[in-house]
Amino acid sequence: MSSFEALEQLHHQALAELVDAATTEALKGWEDRYLGRKGQITQQARTVGQMPKEARPAFGRRVNEIKTLLEQAYETRLAEIRNAELQTQMTREAIDVTLPGRPMVPGHLHLTIQALRELYDIWAKMGFEVYEAPDVELEAYNFDLLNIPEYHPARDMWDTFWVKGTNDQQAGDRRLLRTHTSPGQIRVMRERYPEPIRVILPGKCYRYEQITVRAEHQFYQMEGLAVGRAITLTDLIGTVTQFSHLYYGADRQVRVRSSYFPFTEPSVEVDTQCILCGGEGCAVCKYTGWLEIAGAGMVHPVVLENGGYDPDVWSGFAFGFGVERPAMQKYGVEDIRLFYGNDLRFLRQF
Ligand code: PHE
Repeated sequence: MSSFEALEQLHHQALAELVDAATTEALKGWEDRYLGRKGQITQQARTVGQMPKEARPAFGRRVNEIKTLLEQAYETRLAEIRNAELQTQMTREAIDVTLPGRPMVPGHLHLTIQALRELYDIWAKMGFEVYEAPDVELEAYNFDLLNIPEYHPARDMWDTFWVKGTNDQQAGDRRLLRTHTSPGQIRVMRERYPEPIRVILPGKCYRYEQITVRAEHQFYQMEGLAVGRAITLTDLIGTVTQFSHLYYGADRQVRVRSSYFPFTEPSVEVDTQCILCGGEGCAVCKYTGWLEIAGAGMVHPVVLENGGYDPDVWSGFAFGFGVERPAMQKYGVEDIRLFYGNDLRFLRQF
């Protein structure tokens, strides 16, 4: 076979193989085999030097022609393969734009926050503004200044979470998680004196207690404080009655029973007729017909004085409502632990 014939055969063989190359990798192999540095066409071009002189120009020209033709064929095939691969990829990764999207579930306010906001609205109607006091409190504000000195037996009413590392501080300077919202009374008075005061103090309280269906170690309270020049027990009773009418309904009666708190004198407990049975007696009110809704009383003279208000000139009332209990009664929630158990099945219901 002459060199020319061999060259033409190589040409046809290369073209035939090019059609079979179906992937970019196969194509790369083909390029190496024919056009690469050690490729067969390249090698053919190198043989020119060993040929008889008169054969060289024609052979050389033909090799270059074939090389150019194959390079063009290569480019064309490469474009075809790339196109096909892209098509496959597009089919594989196709997005069905008619499919419904994944729903975004909007969150909502926690039941407690909803309950608090409802309470804010009612108290705002009666002229009470919101005042916030800290959760981590000084012992003095939580106890001593509220007329509950160290070793006073009344401290047993509030089992306390103490803040680590503050034990060696002087009594009064030790830190704790407030056991009730009453320490806020001292804070508002010290800040507002000599203005008259009408505020509610909402906030989370903490007690070192056994957790049961009825008791949590964290819960909200809504404190109220009014300080003025001629405030009497009647004002307190009228205010909590009005609140009860707005929150529980005007058909529910309110009663007060005498009670004891170190920071109020006299002290009372406020009951409202059971929201469920209306006073008939049921499981929610333990067949008494009444629900306890708040502790309250006239601000103790010692507390007024600790707040900077002269008890001979000023008087006031204070009350402390639970927040979760009323919500439980309203929605028929039987276990207080559900509030902060983070179970979405519960939380989503409200
Ligand atoms: N702080 C009291 C408690 O936690 C409630 C209370 C508030 C009573 C204000 C009287 C006045 O039990």
